[in-house]
Amino acid sequence: MFPGPLGQSLAGEALARGLWSLEARDIRDHGTGRHRAVDDTPAGGGPGMVMRADVLAASLDATALPGDPRPRLIMTPRGAPFRQARAREWAAGPGLVILCPRFEGVDERLIEARGLSEVSIGDYVLSGGEIAALAILDACVRLIPGVMGKEDSGREESFESGLLEYPQYTRPREWEGRAIPEVLLSGDHAKVAEWRRREAERITKERRFDLRGPAGS
Ligand code: 6GU
Repeated sequence: MFPGPLGQSLAGEALARGLWSLEARDIRDHGTGRHRAVDDTPAGGGPGMVMRADVLAASLDATALPGDPRPRLIMTPRGAPFRQARAREWAAGPGLVILCPRFEGVDERLIEARGLSEVSIGDYVLSGGEIAALAILDACVRLIPGVMGKEDSGREESFESGLLEYPQYTRPREWEGRAIPEVLLSGDHAKVAEWRRREAERITKERRFDLRGPAGS
């Protein structure tokens, strides 16, 4: 699954150029018994399986030696919501160690004993943490200086202001009977800026009443 889509396009070129790096580990390398099991039945009964603390700890400890400054994340829908402010923080930091669980869950003692931060990318359930980890990595990697072109790296300024993006247009000037808003063709930069600000506010209010002020942490 890794680097997956992050091996393509600008992120992939940056990976090849060494602007960022990735080491994927297979938890099963530390599995137990003849079948290298990484999970077992839940204490107290019930459906599904639970990933073993000892197996996951062995994998983590082989990755992050004592004193490793990287935040240790575990991907789970019950985690803290991932937001742009965190992407900025992690992109500027020493890197991340990300545990991607499968199955029903993870033995709680691992989370406590290894000081893992639980992170979610939204209110829905994925079948494993890998796709969520890729989303987080994408959000962080594009903020690393030199990864994106100049135009794109300025683009989250609109998000930093706590607003969603204003509508954009390009040629042709009229398409299927729809014209580009007149003000955008006026050449009046102050008027254009004012229109964009008002549109961004309108769209944010309509879609996301929870987004207010500077993008939250
Ligand atoms: Cl981080 N993991 C899984 N499995 N599902 C999710 C998620 C994470 N975030 C939202 N849904």
